[in-house]
Amino acid sequence: MAAIQRRKFDTLIIGAGGGGLRAALKLSDADASVAVVSKVFPTRSHTVAAQGGMNAALANVLPDNWHWHMFDTIKGSDYLGDQDAIEYMCRAAPKAVYELEHFGVPFSRLDNGKIYQRPFGGQSQNFGGDQAARTCAAADRTGHAILHSLYQQNIRARTHFFDEYFSVDLLKNDEGHVLGALIFNIHDGQPIIIEAKTTLLATGGAGQLYRTTTNAMINTGDGLGMALRAGVPLQDMEFFQFHPTGIAGRGMLITEGARGEGGYLVNGDGERLMERYAPKAKDLASRDVVSRAIATEIREGRGCGPNKDYVMLKLDHLGEAVIQKRLPGIRQTCMTFLGIDPAEAAIPVFPTAHYTMGGIPTNRNGQVVMPVKDTPEEVIEGLYAAGECACVSVHGANRLGGNSLLDILVFGRAAANHIIDYLKENRYHRSMDEASVNKAMARFQRWDKKAEDGGESVSALRDELKAVMEQHCGVFRNDEVLKEGVQKIEQLAERLKEATIGDHSDTFNTARVEALELENLMACGLATMHSACARRESRGAHSRIDYPERDDKNWMRHSLYSFESGLDYKPVRTKPVSVDSFPPKPRVY
Ligand code: FUM
Repeated sequence: MAAIQRRKFDTLIIGAGGGGLRAALKLSDADASVAVVSKVFPTRSHTVAAQGGMNAALANVLPDNWHWHMFDTIKGSDYLGDQDAIEYMCRAAPKAVYELEHFGVPFSRLDNGKIYQRPFGGQSQNFGGDQAARTCAAADRTGHAILHSLYQQNIRARTHFFDEYFSVDLLKNDEGHVLGALIFNIHDGQPIIIEAKTTLLATGGAGQLYRTTTNAMINTGDGLGMALRAGVPLQDMEFFQFHPTGIAGRGMLITEGARGEGGYLVNGDGERLMERYAPKAKDLASRDVVSRAIATEIREGRGCGPNKDYVMLKLDHLGEAVIQKRLPGIRQTCMTFLGIDPAEAAIPVFPTAHYTMGGIPTNRNGQVVMPVKDTPEEVIEGLYAAGECACVSVHGANRLGGNSLLDILVFGRAAANHIIDYLKENRYHRSMDEASVNKAMARFQRWDKKAEDGGESVSALRDELKAVMEQHCGVFRNDEVLKEGVQKIEQLAERLKEATIGDHSDTFNTARVEALELENLMACGLATMHSACARRESRGAHSRIDYPERDDKNWMRHSLYSFESGLDYKPVRTKPVSVDSFPPKPRVY
């Protein structure tokens, strides 16, 4: 075989969503040589689908400050979020928004010209008081506006893009420093070794683990899989967010902004159901609460439709003008996919897989950290992660709507700042361990095995994985269901080792990509199911019928799942940087 092509950069960024592009821009503007590798054209990354907005205490509509935002985020996380990281993020939020404004993001405006902000779930004034309005929006296409602006800025800054290249695995030296990755061109299948002094994983979440999901087909947990295979444990994977309002049976997102603008949920008896579950915040309680409420209504026979298996989201009372101005995207989606105009009729909705709260453990600089027994955590030299694939941890057991765009921008930027300093101290490329290249190449070539060699098909296994996740790790869980889920997913992982793909010589390597993606998804599924089965309490999005209460005494700790050691745990960082801690309290809305 011909020698594999090699390219050298200061920084390799894997993933071209908001986190990757924010970091790339900062680094390119600092004259670092930056390669961004993306399996899709960058503006097709999943950030483009973020609808409702980005939280920052600008106080443009109602009184607000970062400390209230911090409190809401900690309470929203069901006290599992690390309070130092949350303080850092909430303090940095206004600046992150103003930077975007300067990059050209066309935020919606108030009559006085300031950035428009809408109420979102779990937001309050004055530490749990009246509803706040903290979410900065560009109508209901905020992610689209942000991603396109960041991409254009990166083109200006001369970031080097490898569009439609797939990253196979991280490459290291024998001291464990991460020195780049093996990637290949999806079009012609040619592998390339990217040698980099620093590597940032910004690959997004694993929403394709579930059958019905708001997530794009590309969200297959690739960075999470790469990290696990490189020996990095995944943190808090049992906490998977179900967005209350995916279109029933189909999954397309109907933004929380719809409820922020005054929409509300009704059950089959025509009742405004959230009054029963969150008397004060009602439809703007945090997502885990609203999703459980919908699932409970349906379980107890108060759903809508012939099978009573969804509830309705009512917006028609807002009037066509408000809907067209503030929610044009979801109006279009409903008209296209349901033949319903929300200005006239209610939308059938159901809790839908949306967001991976867990991920690759990092510190506030985006450095990937490894737990070390009884000593401070160690960083993995040269390896960073930001955005949904990372767990810093600002979302804990339940993320607040509007904090995900914020997370990717704040920590994408923070990682870039740290990398800039690191590059000043580490001027030369280290030599790569060729064994690590050979291992990554073996994984790439393993999928040369064609269907005629026998073995199950990748797509059938992927469908089974999604069904297992949906049936065994959904909104409500219990011991029996989870144990069975663990067994099934372990068997699926074994079967995947023998699976094959069809002839992919004329198909842009898509079959190979799907196989590699399924390996990543399977790794995420194993981490999620094992971590969920072990956690015997209910906290945030992890809701166990057999352990209905939060158990701070035994379970206020982060889980860590690795292939090498199974499950381990580490403490939550309850000390903020400059203010008092928020101790755990019962969480009511
Ligand atoms: O509902 C939404 O617009 C989603 C926002 C988010 O997940 O932060």
